[in-house]
Amino acid sequence: MKNLYLGILFSATAIVSCNQQNGKKGEVIPEDNIVKLSESETLEGFGLMKTNCYACHNPVTPESERVAPPMIAIKARYLAQQKTKGEFIAEIWNYVQKPDSSKSKLPGAVQRYGLMPYQSFHQKDIEKIAAFIYDYKIPEPEWFKEHYKKQMNAEFNQNGKPIPASAKTKEEIAMDYALETKQLLGKNLQKKLKEEGAEKALEFCNVEAIPLTKSVSDKYKVAIKRVSDQPRNPRNLANAEELKIINKYKADLVAGKSVKGMMLNDHQFYMPITTNTMCLQCHGTVGKEIKPNVAAEIKKLYPKDKATGYQENQLRGIFSVTMK
Ligand code: HEC
Ligand code: HEC
Repeated sequence: MKNLYLGILFSATAIVSCNQQNGKKGEVIPEDNIVKLSESETLEGFGLMKTNCYACHNPVTPESERVAPPMIAIKARYLAQQKTKGEFIAEIWNYVQKPDSSKSKLPGAVQRYGLMPYQSFHQKDIEKIAAFIYDYKIPEPEWFKEHYKKQMNAEFNQNGKPIPASAKTKEEIAMDYALETKQLLGKNLQKKLKEEGAEKALEFCNVEAIPLTKSVSDKYKVAIKRVSDQPRNPRNLANAEELKIINKYKADLVAGKSVKGMMLNDHQFYMPITTNTMCLQCHGTVGKEIKPNVAAEIKKLYPKDKATGYQENQLRGIFSVTMK
């Protein structure tokens, strides 16, 4: 699915963007106007982007639930040709003030998601957002680099400076840590599964899941845990407070709502962990998705296992990140 979408996104656009540039010369905002945005005004663009654009363009919504491309896909496309900051900002504003498929540089996205709905935005806010996107490295989904490489046959290295930690909320920093842990576990699990199959991957999780999680905790000097109401490893059993959060996420999923990370108070962050089909090889039903040899190994390593019987898109557990 990702392949398909990025394929459409990147391949069909070249001709459109050339036409675009010839016809829209008059709309470029003079560099002078842009330069007037101070550093702090530009950084305001981050908050404005999250408030106004992330409902649809955020980097974290899973592929299957997306209603629009992540903002990084737009940045990559709009900067595929060399552009000044003024040209970039003008092109973003030109689209946002009146979305129209004839102006689109991402016709694949229009095809997949439908046209961006018209909303009334202030030009100054959009300029700050676009300046921020141009100047800084904005958050990318986990899969973006790899798929860019597949589609464009080139490495994707995003332009821009790193966003200063002072511009991030504590929740964003905590989420960065949870995502890094998730990626680390996921990358290693996928590799083992592919190279050695589910039984060996299971042994790998048995030995490495907790130490890998701890390595991220140690790196940032925070406490990261992966817990469940139905744990495989009894050490991962959720406590009373975590159970409350788990039950809330479960109820939301049953009600068809999507679930996402949340900061409970000034230092405690939770992020839901949901299942996909891949997980069911080890967390699905014995005799159905779980093969006999894998079931036997689970029984051997985890005599008190409670982590089977799951279906796709159910809550498997949560990440807990406790900040200082
Ligand atoms: C309600 C959902 C929604 C919101 C909110 C939203 N967009 Fe979009 N946007 C879309 C969709 C869907 C597309 C893909 C279809 C398209 O290109 O029109 C898109 C595409 C775009 C594109 C690429 C247009 C192209 O095809 O060349 C830009 C630029 C863009 N959005 C900017 C923004 C900015 C900036 C914000 C916040 C100020 C924002 N959008 C908020 C839904 C949204
Ligand atoms: C190859 C088998 C395997 C696959 C595939 C697998 N897991 Fe696990 N999972 C395990 C094992 C083994 C443990 C126990 C690790 C430990 O001892 O700390 C575990 C533990 C967990 C835990 C911690 C709570 C607990 O039950 O101990 C969560 C959460 C979890 N898995 C989620 C997932 C999700 C989500 C997926 C799919 C994206 C997945 N797992 C795929 C084998 C697997």
